[in-house]
Amino acid sequence: MSMAAQLRRLSRHPVATLRSPIRAGFFTRRHPELGHLIGQVRARRLTFLSHECLIDLAEAVLAMERRGLPGAVVEAGAALGGSAIVLGKAKAPSRPMKVYDTFGMIPPPADRDGRDVHERYAAIASGKATGIGGETYYGYRDNLLGEVGDNFRTLGVPAEAHSVEFVQGLYEDTLRVTYPVAFAHVDCDWYESVMTCLRQIEPRLVPGGRLVIDDYDHWSGCRTAVDEYFAGRTGYTFVRRSRLHIVKAG
Ligand SMILES: C[S@@+](CC[C@H](N)C(=O)[O-])C[C@H]1O[C@@H](n2cnc3c(N)ncnc32)[C@H](O)[C@@H]1O
Repeated sequence: MSMAAQLRRLSRHPVATLRSPIRAGFFTRRHPELGHLIGQVRARRLTFLSHECLIDLAEAVLAMERRGLPGAVVEAGAALGGSAIVLGKAKAPSRPMKVYDTFGMIPPPADRDGRDVHERYAAIASGKATGIGGETYYGYRDNLLGEVGDNFRTLGVPAEAHSVEFVQGLYEDTLRVTYPVAFAHVDCDWYESVMTCLRQIEPRLVPGGRLVIDDYDHWSGCRTAVDEYFAGRTGYTFVRRSRLHIVKAG
């Protein structure tokens, strides 16, 4: 079945529709350390993602570990590192994880992005964007890479001990995926960024591997990139959780 047909048929996963506090309680009882960590990441305003969304990410990575899938974890789009910290904790410490970002300003959008995206970028470029909870927008900070490393350490997930590597720069220059990937969180907003990630990561996704697309329902360019990339491509299941999960057969 095509991607479009699958998405039309899909309603949100029943687990994902449980009310957030109930689900968070269940999750924390089963995974106390991870549940507590997610609470801290949110309380410290290190992420744009909801509690539910972070639980979905953590559960998907835990399932990947239970299945023993080979390959790295990738995050493309870290900002302050919130979701990356959760992924880094959920995976086995020895499994490699690569975190790609400019660790600075997000690059400008392009023609394939819609008006929603161009308006958001104009606000960012004007210097008037505000960060999570009204704090300084992450893209305006002087040493974001240093801050992200500190955030990992402070929350008990030091990068070195958890095999996490930060790769700074534009994906167009830095994202060369020459290794197998078991799980990728693609959270980078605009058309070109998402398309670059798909072109690099999808061919290296192992059977059973998963892509989580953060912005499919939020930014027009992301949706266009995913729709274009997967049009006519078979061997994938599209799962609606709090975000779009794309799972390779196997
Ligand atoms: C919404 S933020 C990520 C949010 C994060 N995952 C969280 O937990 O809140 C998007 C990130 O993507 C990065 N990004 C977008 N396009 C990029 C590109 N072409 N190259 C490098 N980084 C990019 C931005 O710098 C930004 O940090």
